[in-house]
Amino acid sequence: MKITAIISAAAAAAALATLTAFADAGDVNADRAINVSDVVLVAAHVKGQRALSGEALKNADVNGDNKVNVTDIITIAAHVKGIHRIDGSSSYVEPQPEPEPKGPNIEVINGVTYVDGILIANKTYSLPDNYGWGLTDETLNAFYQMQAGAWQDGISLWICSGFRGYWDQYYLYNNYVARDGKAEADTYSARPGHSEHQTGLAMDLNNASRSFYGTREAAWIADHCAEYGFIIRYPQGKENITGFIYEPWHVRYVGKDLARKITDSGLCLEEYLGIDSYYHY
Ligand code: DAL
Ligand code: ZN
Repeated sequence: MKITAIISAAAAAAALATLTAFADAGDVNADRAINVSDVVLVAAHVKGQRALSGEALKNADVNGDNKVNVTDIITIAAHVKGIHRIDGSSSYVEPQPEPEPKGPNIEVINGVTYVDGILIANKTYSLPDNYGWGLTDETLNAFYQMQAGAWQDGISLWICSGFRGYWDQYYLYNNYVARDGKAEADTYSARPGHSEHQTGLAMDLNNASRSFYGTREAAWIADHCAEYGFIIRYPQGKENITGFIYEPWHVRYVGKDLARKITDSGLCLEEYLGIDSYYHY
């Protein structure tokens, strides 16, 4: 737009606010159009607004009909850099570019799902039955570090269930179903292919039962596991999002940086990544 070049950057804000104000005021016939000559006349009376030259306003006459539509002036004004809102008689707000839709980046590689690069197993995302070999070295080393740290604080930690393969989970889950029924079992035990224990990145510490709730060990894990790269995977209050009851004993290795960010966010992993967790079958 030529008008952009004509109006100096310093004068732009004041000039264009005024321009808009008198664009409405100058619409003497209330027909949403202003004669260029009328506008120029008004402009000439605005003290110090030399940027509003007749030339500038002629450039706003985009249809070449010797009239400047009120909306044209406002639109042109809005395109001058730095003017986001036109004050005065107009409530016009510069259209902002649509924000990039920010969804998670979900990749499936050999049947394994990575969300923003994080391996995920939950009720929505499953693992192939041949996936998994044991706890990863990184996970195990992080546990040993955490165990040593806990020991310094007088807390004894041990792994009561680490890696579980697809078929381990198959038998475990089906035993729970036989005992408690499917609906109940689904609240605390993952179906085969959906357990995080199959990832080799998760483990249960000390005592995987409700009697672990509120113990010193549970409190220590909650307070310190992020320092070693773990998160509480199924936090209290997030049962409807993770799909599982609160499990203060179940930690998931994500690395120190991410563990700190997730823990500080107060979000569970699903919320943090923007994904869900429910069985689609
Ligand atoms: N207890 C967790 C949810 C599992 O079965 O993997
Ligand atoms: Zn677990």
